[in-house]
Amino acid sequence: MLLMLIMESLYVKNHMDWLNLFTGMHYGARHLKKRWSKFIPAETFEFVEKLSKLSLDSVDGACTNKRALDLGCNVGGVTFNLAAKFDEVIGFDYCKGFIEFCEELKENGKAKIYAGEEGDLKKEMLAEIPDSIDRSRCSFQLGDVQALPSDIGTFGCVVISNVIGRLENPIKVLRNLPNLLDDYGICVIASPHDPLEDFTPKENWIGGFLDKDGQTVTASQTIKEILSDKMELIQTEEIPFALQYQARDFEILISEVQVWLKSPKKS
Ligand SMILES: C[S@@+](CC[C@H](N)C(=O)[O-])C[C@H]1O[C@@H](n2cnc3c(N)ncnc32)[C@H](O)[C@@H]1O
Repeated sequence: MLLMLIMESLYVKNHMDWLNLFTGMHYGARHLKKRWSKFIPAETFEFVEKLSKLSLDSVDGACTNKRALDLGCNVGGVTFNLAAKFDEVIGFDYCKGFIEFCEELKENGKAKIYAGEEGDLKKEMLAEIPDSIDRSRCSFQLGDVQALPSDIGTFGCVVISNVIGRLENPIKVLRNLPNLLDDYGICVIASPHDPLEDFTPKENWIGGFLDKDGQTVTASQTIKEILSDKMELIQTEEIPFALQYQARDFEILISEVQVWLKSPKKS
């Protein structure tokens, strides 16, 4: 709990920097591709679009639940995209600044965003939600994904993207995922599997170490072990993404994406 408060305050304290970093990632693809795709593959700037499409394409027609949940929604790129197919989408995050940005975007359909350019200089861009998306289907909730409200209900789709490796207790969240889904609902888990002690105490890591018998433990395998009891793994994919700190300063990561189906056979 103490670690969570420290991490939460870290996100909150530096939230303008984080906000600029993530709004660029979620809404800056058009600008970034135009300027840098000669050097960085264009798809690296389209993580949010690709993950959203993969999620929407994976939805099973047999699932009647038209609610979706984006855990650790951040600045809401995936949340808004899910509204293309879901009647109700909840974006859930513990950083007030991110939730406020999502609310602003929901209200106005657009918002100014600022990418790091050089030192104190920022480049102004516009985040826009296409008119084809019914923003009123989206709502945003502040809270800890490790302690979801008891009345949050069940969903046809749960996305948890680049969050598992940033939690104090990832196993608790993974174990709860099947409970959030109705039969034939899907869960999309993306992670670059880059554990950091700043976020997750080492005793809670789900991968990235040797066990007591000297066997390799990976997050990819641990997620499969936890979920395969109640769900079926229907697809895996690798999707890259770029975080731009300054105009010419990028961090490139690659998330493994696992798509799971809540199969009634396994319930
Ligand atoms: C690395 S960002 C990923 C955001 C987004 N899902 C994506 O893939 O671009 C991690 C997000 O998870 C949120 N987060 C981390 N721990 C959380 C927790 N315990 N409860 C709620 N949100 C959390 C952070 O505030 C941040 O927005």
